[in-house]
Formats: sequence, C-alpha cells, structure tokens
Amino acid sequence: MIEENVSLRPYNTFGIDVNAKSFCNISSVEALKIQLREHQNQPLFVLGGGSNMLLTKNIEALVLHINIKGIEVVEETNETVLIKAMAGENWHEFVLWCLDHNYGGIENLSLIPGNVGTAPIQNIGAYGVELKDVFVSCETIRIKDQESVTFTKEDCQFGYRESIFKQDLKGQYIITSVTFKLTKTNHKLHTDYGAIKQQLKDSNIDSPSIRDISNAVIAIRQSKLPDPNEIGNSGSFFKNPVISKLQFQKLQENFPKVPSYSVSEDLVKVPSGWLIEKAGFKGKRFNNYGVHNKQALVLVNYGGAKGSDIYDLALLIQKTVKRIFDITIETEVNII
Ligand code: EPU
Repeated sequence: MIEENVSLRPYNTFGIDVNAKSFCNISSVEALKIQLREHQNQPLFVLGGGSNMLLTKNIEALVLHINIKGIEVVEETNETVLIKAMAGENWHEFVLWCLDHNYGGIENLSLIPGNVGTAPIQNIGAYGVELKDVFVSCETIRIKDQESVTFTKEDCQFGYRESIFKQDLKGQYIITSVTFKLTKTNHKLHTDYGAIKQQLKDSNIDSPSIRDISNAVIAIRQSKLPDPNEIGNSGSFFKNPVISKLQFQKLQENFPKVPSYSVSEDLVKVPSGWLIEKAGFKGKRFNNYGVHNKQALVLVNYGGAKGSDIYDLALLIQKTVKRIFDITIETEVNII
C-alpha cells in the first residue's frame, strides 16, 4: 500500500522530521520487484534502517522502506555455518540471534544501529572487526530491470566504510539479503582493541566467550555513544582521515599527543574525534542540536532540529579542522 505525505521521523535514527512524497513498506522480494516495475519512471528513494543518513529536505520521491525479514541457516559443517539474513532484519537483533546460537564472528559489531541490508554498503566496523571479515555474498535486485544479481565479497570492493554500493554502483541495486560465514567452535576472538581489553579486565574475565565480548562492546558503546532512541544521531558523522606519515610527523611536532593507527608503511589514520575535540567542538550545543559530549565524532539532534542546521554545523567543523590541522575530514553519513 502506498501512503502519501508520510513523516520520515520514525524511520531515521537522527529523528529528523521531513516528509516523503509517497511511502511504501516492502516486506518481500516479490513486492519489491512489483513496486520497482510499477514505478519505473518515477524518482525512488530506498530506505533501510535509516541509521546512516542526514535528511536535510523533504523527499520528493516514492520511498521504498525495505522491511524484508527472515534468518536461515543455508549450510553448515562441524566448525562453521553459512547464515542468510534478509535485508530488513535489525542488525543488533541479528547479532543477538547469532549469540543465542553460539555463532561467532560479529560479536564485536554489537549495538551498531541499522539493518542487515545496509551493513555492506558502508562495510560497518567497530572494535577491530569489519563486516567484510564475515561476509560471503549478498543478493540484490537491479533497479532498472528487477533482475536478481548476487555479489561476492570481491565484487563488493570493500574498504574502510566503503563498498561498490557507495561508489560505482551507487543507487543502482537494492540489497535484499546478506550471507555470512560464522564459526560454531574455535571462535576467533578479537580482543586487542584497548577499550575491550580494559572492559574485560574490569569485569575479571580472563577467557572471554563471544557473549562476554558482546557485553563488553555494549558497555563501551553505551558509555560513549548516545542511544538513538533517546538522542537522535547517526553514530560517527565523519570518517577518520588517512594521511601520509610525513604529514603525520609534521602534525606531531605541533600536537605531540595526537593519537594514530598505522594503516600501511606510509599511511596513518588519525581519529576525527580527537581533531574535533581539539578544535573545541566537543559537547558544544547550539539550541536543539550539537556535538556529543562523550564522543566528538557524533553529531546529535536533541529534538526538533533541522537536518540543514546539523549539516551547517558539520561544514563548520570540517572548515575549522582544515584550518587548524590542514586535514580534510569526510562525512561518513550520507547527506540527503
Ligand atoms: N578521541 C578523542 N575525543 C573524542 C573521541 C575520541 O580524543 O571526542 C580519541 C580517543 O581518545 C581515542 C581515539 O580518538 O584515542 C579513538 O576513539 P574511539 O576508540 O572512540 O574510536 P573512533 O576512531 O572515534 C571508530 C569508529 C566507530 C567505532 C570505534 C570503535 C570511525 C569513523 N568510527 O571511532 O564507528 O565504533 O572506532 O571501533 O571509524 C560508526 O562508524 O558509526 C562508529 C561509531
């Protein structure tokens, strides 16, 4: 059923109140194909979990809300399992389902907002794990002819918060399901990330289970990142910039305490959160929007903010960081 003039406020984690010209809830692949066929020459806007977008204006298009549900085991051995999850499954609920079945591999990705079907688009990642580490393939529908097309891991060209769906194929395919390879035994634990180590130590856990790691990640996220159900936000608003070692050394001369992660022999990643904090924006509030007080990478809507105001703040932050550090920080969130 197609509804007219629908508020998108419940459908984006920033909680921005803009309207969709028309809106259709899609609960099966067949229904998706039908809507695409019937509205071929109409502007379309595909909406998943709405967790990685800042809506700055009304959407003058038919919004297709991908709400296709289902999780199934497609193949298993004694050690591993292939699981196919439909695009409309909530990501964190999927993580919990896997933990309940003792399937390991995505516990570090606990509590990331959004849906299964949008996770590959930006190759979600946290605490030393990225989606690509467990990704096998995804099924999609090509918008122009409603053909089913499967993408392997190689096809997706995953990078840091990147994939082909954000680049060359942007806006051309709709992901309908994702297949993951997870472990049933001998789970490969990723506990190197400093905050996880500390959290496990504080809880006196020496040999953690995948559930322990998930709990640690949940505790860390809850201590730093605002819950979108309470304060509108889209997680990290900016990506962490990758700069040359040479530029990093120059930066270190002026700012000896700048944190960094080595990316390759001559590239270094610098946390945007640190740059934004040093630029004086952490915790800054402008009326009903601002910068989160515990993690400067997160912009927040305290209620009723306009997307365009938040976008203007993002531009001001980018300009200020550029002026002070001569570093360009790119947005991670899609600006609509
Ligand atoms: N930092 C500051 N001030 C801040 C925030 C961070 O100085 O306000 C410093 C921290 O002290 C630390 C460093 O920056 O030295 C890194 O901070 P953190 O560990 O919180 O991670 P991050 O680089 O800010 C990235 C991801 C997060 C992910 C965490 C954990 C990006 C853009 N963000 O944040 O992803 O949860 O690592 O792996 O890569 C997301 O993408 O939405 C997201 C939340």
